[in-house]
Amino acid sequence: MTVCEYKPGLEGIPATQSAISHVDGQLGILEYRGIRVEDLAQYSTFLETAYLLIWGGLPNQNELDHFQYEIRNHRRLKYRIRDMMKCFPEGGHPMDALQACAAALGLFYSKRALDNPAYIQNAVVRLLAKIPTMVAAFQLMRKGNDPVQPRDDLDYAGNFLYMLNEREPDPLAARIFDICLTLHAEHTINASTFSAMVTASTLTDPYAVVASAVGTLAGPLHGGANEEVINMLEEIGTVENVRPYIDRCIQEKHRIMGFGHRVYKVKDPRATILQKLAEQLFEKFGGDEYYAIALELEHVVTERLGGKGVYPNVDFYSGLVYRKLGIPTDLFTPVFAIARVAGWLAHWKEQLGENRIFRPTQIYTGSHNQSYIPMADRLQIWDKQPLAGRV
Ligand code: ACO
Repeated sequence: MTVCEYKPGLEGIPATQSAISHVDGQLGILEYRGIRVEDLAQYSTFLETAYLLIWGGLPNQNELDHFQYEIRNHRRLKYRIRDMMKCFPEGGHPMDALQACAAALGLFYSKRALDNPAYIQNAVVRLLAKIPTMVAAFQLMRKGNDPVQPRDDLDYAGNFLYMLNEREPDPLAARIFDICLTLHAEHTINASTFSAMVTASTLTDPYAVVASAVGTLAGPLHGGANEEVINMLEEIGTVENVRPYIDRCIQEKHRIMGFGHRVYKVKDPRATILQKLAEQLFEKFGGDEYYAIALELEHVVTERLGGKGVYPNVDFYSGLVYRKLGIPTDLFTPVFAIARVAGWLAHWKEQLGENRIFRPTQIYTGSHNQSYIPMADRLQIWDKQPLAGRV
């Protein structure tokens, strides 16, 4: 076996072969199953795109109708899951609630049959159907209200906004939310997808796969950045404050949220579409005070860090869209998860097709041949060296 160079974060190291999506980070191109994301955003719907990602091709009308019908039929949550959610602390983060709920599905559907296509189909349908209901239910329950039951006459995006806001959404708002889901559905081997694949490679159940991916998506360097962007715009407060804020971040080596990407070295194509969607919403429902700050931020960051390939990523404008749709800031990442479950499931299915358990190697940097120190002697040694300084 050849000894490979260690690359922190596995940068540039292929972890799998995949036919699901492709990113060209220099040209700013994203394709799902070979179709440009711009075309899917314009002509497709989230559920059709999910079908494309998971089953490998666009569905015909019958297949799509059947898939949508199945998902509508599985939107409701078992009362035991709702009871479990009632015990969650209302101050807890919705991503933690979602991770717990996704994992709990494994308790209810515990008969694992990974070689049975019907089992795969059912798991896909259940996860796509129930995750939006879980996110909306937690939002209402933490305010002390009963969850709103899903409505069969509403489509996927419209039903989620209805369950969240307890009123039927405006058709433009529902369509724009559906496009947001399409844009977030898949993005090659990012951190949460890799996490899903590692978990999948042990042949555990798909609910554990999704729960592990949700936990990974929650971090501020990944899906959690969309929430941090709004907090940052709030902190900056005015257009005049943008330049000093960026200067300070650069000087103190702080990351500017919603900018930069491991793969894209130009503006993320999803950010371009999301910016247009935000503008459509502002035109119909009124502007957002943060938009001018966001524009100035993009201008200044591009000027200062564009040379390093740091441009807006998907998380930069998505928060402005979600705010206008009435989605609370700490639900931005759960909403990302609602969409990305399609990509995670596509990779889960692909992984099962040619599975080999992930078991990378490491470069050991610790010591050897240390003697076991008796407790009495150990205390004397540690007393001289505080815990924080121990190696
Ligand atoms: N703010 C300031 N400088 C940045 C940023 C940023 N957001 N992103 C990258 N840079 C700089 C780095 O400091 C580095 O400069 P240097 O070469 O002088 O040290 C250079 O650009 C290259 O950056 P890397 O650290 O090599 O980029 P990496 O691929 O490791 O990081 C990441 C990618 C984690 C996304 C990073 O850009 C970041 O932290 N962004 C902010 C958080 C964020 O928006 N995350 C969402 C990403 S999209 C998603 O996950 C859905």
